Amino acid sequence: MLRRRFLWSILIVVIAATLLTGMPGCRSGNDDYEPIEDTSPPYLSELAEKLDFYIGAAVGESYLRNSEYVEVLKREFNAVVAENDMKWSTIRWSEHSYNFAPGDAIVKFAEENRMMVRGHTLAWHSQNPGWLRNKKYSREEAIEVLEGYITEVVTHWKGRIKEWDVVNEAIDDEGKRRDSIWQQWIGDDWIEIAFRAAHKADPDALLFYNDYNLEYPSPKQNAVYNLVNGLLKKGVPIHGIGFQGHFSLEYGGVPAKGTLKASIDRFANLGLIVQFTEVDVRIPKPVTASKLKQQAESYRRLLEVALEHPACNAVLVWGVHDKQSWVDYTFPNTTAPLLFDNSFYRKPAYYAVRDCLLAEIERREVEGK
Ligand code: G3I
Repeated sequence: MLRRRFLWSILIVVIAATLLTGMPGCRSGNDDYEPIEDTSPPYLSELAEKLDFYIGAAVGESYLRNSEYVEVLKREFNAVVAENDMKWSTIRWSEHSYNFAPGDAIVKFAEENRMMVRGHTLAWHSQNPGWLRNKKYSREEAIEVLEGYITEVVTHWKGRIKEWDVVNEAIDDEGKRRDSIWQQWIGDDWIEIAFRAAHKADPDALLFYNDYNLEYPSPKQNAVYNLVNGLLKKGVPIHGIGFQGHFSLEYGGVPAKGTLKASIDRFANLGLIVQFTEVDVRIPKPVTASKLKQQAESYRRLLEVALEHPACNAVLVWGVHDKQSWVDYTFPNTTAPLLFDNSFYRKPAYYAVRDCLLAEIERREVEGK
């Protein structure tokens, strides 16, 4: 009797361990996560290319000196966006000159590796240099400064940067205009002024309005919808909407697929491209195998919707690996929001993204598309 009970308990332990190790990287039965080294193909970039899709990452010029980082970036991604190197704080840290060197390095790297480049961002309330914030410009002076900057920067990378986040986060969570320097100095039409200047400098560049919390219905989503609808009616050159896609497991991660799809539909029905431009899914500490699995399910939802939607052609994650993410210093109780861990090991979220790309390739093959 005792012997039989003992054998049963061994069997139960074995079954539980097998279930937990079904996911790559989950190697222990106590919800700890043990990453495993795996760099085998297929890679995300090659799968994305088959689908005419971009899987991109936010990068920093300083990281391009890290060989491990570069190896993963080149292997897995076919698009990049400058995380900080094309912001006012970098390009115009000095009032009297333009600093293009970090952005140039990113564009050169992307060209050498056949990656699409998104430029981020021409006008934002944040990361503006102190000398600019301290000015007291009249409306006319501010328009001249904004147009001058946009013309100079877009012209510098004309034909090389395919897409620009022209305006970033101009609407707050209540759906009101954010009180930025441009809003204060110029008034409501600063947004259209920015788009028109960017279009004039590079008529072939695709121009985006980019913001967070657009992935589900809210006063903010309504306000952004009304804003871009109004701009389009006036003939303002705007081609796309960036859903930043910063999510947290604390709030359920990525919304339900129906919610996400309806949100994309809304903007797609205006004729706009919709891209997920800054995706991450942060995990409340401590990181466990089951939370990584939930994170993977979030990424899966997002990729499934994005890949199926005809108006969506890109998902960019906000960093290559967890160590590089803005999340740890901004939300210290959360961490590990990306596809690769601190040591560049693939996480369950990586495999979820790859599965979605493979499934979409298969779906299109079956449908003969
Ligand atoms: O470069 C300095 C360094 O010299 C200094 O020692 C250090 C000390 O704090 O700061 C460094 O600058 C930091 C910079 O990132 C580069 O790492 C800034 O403090 C920090 O504020 C800045 O944060 C960036 C943030 O935008 C600024 O608001 C994040 O890296 C970047 O990921 C984040 O990106 C934004 C998108 O542009 C728009 N959407 C939201 C997204 C997340 O906030």
